[in-house]
Amino acid sequence: MKSLQMNDRQKPTIIWGHYLVFRLKVKHVRGWLAIAIAFSIILALITNPAARADEIQDYAQQCDAAIGASATVRDFNCDDGTEVPGQGSVFANDARCDEPNRLNKECDPGSRFQVLTRTEDAYVVAHCRKQGHREGEYQDIAVIQYSRKNGATCFYQGFGKLPARVKAPSKGQSAWPWMSLSGVANIGCGGCHDNGPLIRSPYLNQVKGQNALPGSDDPSFNSNQPYAFVGRNFASWKAFKVEIAGNECNNCHRLGVNNIPVHTFPCSPNNHCGTALDFAERATSADERSEEDQRDAHNSPLIYPS
Ligand code: HEC
Ligand code: HEC
Repeated sequence: MKSLQMNDRQKPTIIWGHYLVFRLKVKHVRGWLAIAIAFSIILALITNPAARADEIQDYAQQCDAAIGASATVRDFNCDDGTEVPGQGSVFANDARCDEPNRLNKECDPGSRFQVLTRTEDAYVVAHCRKQGHREGEYQDIAVIQYSRKNGATCFYQGFGKLPARVKAPSKGQSAWPWMSLSGVANIGCGGCHDNGPLIRSPYLNQVKGQNALPGSDDPSFNSNQPYAFVGRNFASWKAFKVEIAGNECNNCHRLGVNNIPVHTFPCSPNNHCGTALDFAERATSADERSEEDQRDAHNSPLIYPS
């Protein structure tokens, strides 16, 4: 065949080809360079939390924008909170005490509550449930940030063996194990906190002094104050005020119902959650475990008619 000749003839083409290959190689190198640059940017973003906000940081930013930068949730230490009285000394299924909490209906010694911000404009509170953990650790750390001006409310949550020293949500999930927003939405905070931001349970209402629960000494709290949820993950949450003509339960505060599913806590009765469907029932039922203590704490015969 004339292949040799062909090859000879194609020599320039081969050179041209070499050139092409060279060009290709340059391109290749450029490609790799681009990938390498992109990779190092991503690496920088991952390793430097300040460079890119995670979802908790985004949320904290939106919350601060709505509630006020001065009411940002700062670093805090659960151990600085006031120990909730009346919890007995053991954490056990069958434990009895003067004032079990109303969420888990359990005695939870070592649990602490604190007010991080209490101003004309905002409240920020933190509750640390101990649930048997040792010194310096808690099982359930929850924060509520609330604007008294426009009602904007944010919920932050941690679960598990958590260090008492909590890092601000604005520092993100790499600084402290804040639960994801989908996790928070799944718990459905507003499904129970539905007549206002703070549930003034007899358990928490015992706390006095600088960490007294906002609203604990205000009969008109949770009545006509604004209440709204911040953030895309909570956009579907709705809470409604129950209006029944002549119902005396609404004389001081409202009771709420809501469209927010609560997935991880059993509510009673019939797994209905919230202030009207659960807490109001419980507050007025005779079998509330420490009803007498509550009656004392409330000093309000209307809530617990005998
Ligand atoms: C099943 C009902 C329920 C759900 C769901 C719920 N809470 Fe609560 N929460 C309560 C009750 C009841 C109290 C009052 C304390 C007590 O007696 O346990 C409370 C108290 C609190 C407090 C202390 C201030 C206050 O309101 O008294 C914070 C902070 C808090 N919850 C945060 C959260 C966050 C954040 C979520 C969602 C991740 C959440 N809660 C979901 C029932 C609930
Ligand atoms: C005289 C005013 C007054 C009336 C009337 C009243 N409450 Fe309350 N309620 C309070 C106060 C004050 C608190 C805060 C806790 C406390 O002081 O014990 C509270 C707290 C509550 C809470 C916790 C949610 C929250 O807003 O913090 C529920 C649930 C509740 N009341 C149910 C009822 C029911 C049910 C009735 C009717 C049988 C009723 N209340 C009537 C004053 C009142």
